[in-house]
Amino acid sequence: MRNLVEIYLYFALIVVTTSDKKVTDKSWWQTASFYQIYPRSFKDSDGDGIGDIKGITQQLSYLKEIGIDATWLSPVFKSPMADFGYDVADFTEIDPIFGTMADFDELMEKSKEIGVKIILDFVPNHTSDEHEWFIKSVQNDTEYADYYVWHPGKVTENGTRIPPTNWISVFRGSMWTWNENRQAYYLHQFHYKQPDLNYYNPKVREAMKDVLRFWVRKGVAGFRIDAVPHIYEVAPDSDGNWPDEPRNYWENDLEDYNSLQHIYTKDQPETLEMVYEFREVMNELDEELGGYQHIILSEAYTDIDILMQYYGNTTVDGAHIPFNFELLSNLKSWSDANHYSQLIHNWLDSMPAGRTANWVLGNHDQSRIGTRLGWERIDMINVMLKTLPGASITYQGEEIGMTDVWISWENTVDPQGCQSSMQEYERLSRDPARTPFQWNDEHQAGFTDGNTTWLPLHANYKTLNLKRERGISFSHLNIYKQLQKLRREKAMRYGETDVMAFNRNVLAIKRYLSGERTFIVLLNINDDYEAVNPKAAFIDLTDKLEYILTTDKSIRQKGDRVSSDYIELLSKEAVILATI
Ligand code: BGC
Repeated sequence: MRNLVEIYLYFALIVVTTSDKKVTDKSWWQTASFYQIYPRSFKDSDGDGIGDIKGITQQLSYLKEIGIDATWLSPVFKSPMADFGYDVADFTEIDPIFGTMADFDELMEKSKEIGVKIILDFVPNHTSDEHEWFIKSVQNDTEYADYYVWHPGKVTENGTRIPPTNWISVFRGSMWTWNENRQAYYLHQFHYKQPDLNYYNPKVREAMKDVLRFWVRKGVAGFRIDAVPHIYEVAPDSDGNWPDEPRNYWENDLEDYNSLQHIYTKDQPETLEMVYEFREVMNELDEELGGYQHIILSEAYTDIDILMQYYGNTTVDGAHIPFNFELLSNLKSWSDANHYSQLIHNWLDSMPAGRTANWVLGNHDQSRIGTRLGWERIDMINVMLKTLPGASITYQGEEIGMTDVWISWENTVDPQGCQSSMQEYERLSRDPARTPFQWNDEHQAGFTDGNTTWLPLHANYKTLNLKRERGISFSHLNIYKQLQKLRREKAMRYGETDVMAFNRNVLAIKRYLSGERTFIVLLNINDDYEAVNPKAAFIDLTDKLEYILTTDKSIRQKGDRVSSDYIELLSKEAVILATI
């Protein structure tokens, strides 16, 4: 058995090394633990069943408790809530559902007091159709007429007016909606209540940069930038027309976004330039305000080659953190260790020199980790997230192991679900991952004093909640907290990284830095018992290793010592060991 393991190791090694020469001169965000708050579902302070800013302020110390450096908030701006805040009616006003500007200022105060930075969601692609700019654009107001993308449409032989192109919106159906007042179609990559801004208009670009300036001057640490690949469509030809997009014949439903290849509406080269311009604004603000670097985290589900360009190049900087969705989008419950390793390598091996890696395992648009990959893998995934190099991003509730809630068609509120059908909505609705945070086992899980919650609570909240997990030594929460402490170790923060699959089941991560203890992270992804030999796989390991972190799946305990050439792993066990 041992020999076989060793032989396998010699052939199966794929090692990557990230080298950071000046290891300790990193800016705050490069090794930060980020946490996404979905404000509607975090904490409700006024009993209306919807979370709010005061609720976040009340619970900000919880983020400190779990070692978070900065939290990014999904939108809290004035909005008719057609897409729950991603349809912004005023970029510099707080929506009354979430509170007031005074509440926001109080949150900023608290954030400074306890040292958890606040990052806002910046939605550049579109506004709400109730935004003043759009209302004026509909009226053909000279200043705002070209703020959005308008077209009179095409008239067919039988005299019917049809949209200018076949483009399909992300939320299904035509990307064009007719406006009676302006007698023209407007473009919307998402919901019809989210008209797209026209980025070929320099006034739009400047107005949106002003939004960034406004909030940074109010003290925020930066922005998560929403739906970046959609910012630009191809420029119209000299007659003001656009080409149709080609079909994807594997999708028969012509109303479905997947039925077209989005060669004219996604990932246009101008989009990258825009990211670089947003970064320039951040750099200017850094200079104006001093203190620390203000950052951008860009959201883009796109090819890794394009994502690497989001970072910038040798002459220009781009996003500090282009979200890395490799693991989030591609890991499946049946993925083996080679797949895990390959996905991690995809990012690390493609990154331009001197850039910072990041790892995102969940967000408000995706099914939760425990549902997607299996609840037995919750700790293992958090172990991986927290021991890979660079920044880690946790979606609220993943640290206590919350899972998706099944929501009936009648109770579905997410527009992406509602715009589909009773047969299709479960594949599309994002409601299941957006249910209220489970604070305790009391009334409404401690989320609200009211009698309703905007989405149903998970039925398991009596046993799965923060309060209870605080008292259980091997709870998801306490594993997470231990991981956060470990992240402060120099080797974890500044060290180099080797990642490899020992075999189909075991993923290994080595973190090391000269003069520091080396850490070996082992994940046994499946149910087989495994025995592995890290000593043969990694150079410079001591003969003995010490268990630094174990989970409820382990027989070994923290502090136990073991030979570094023979380490047994039980079903779905994740452990961290250190050289002695
Ligand atoms: C956000 C979604 C939102 C969409 C449109 C995204 O990528 O994360 O929640 O529906 O942008 O703004």
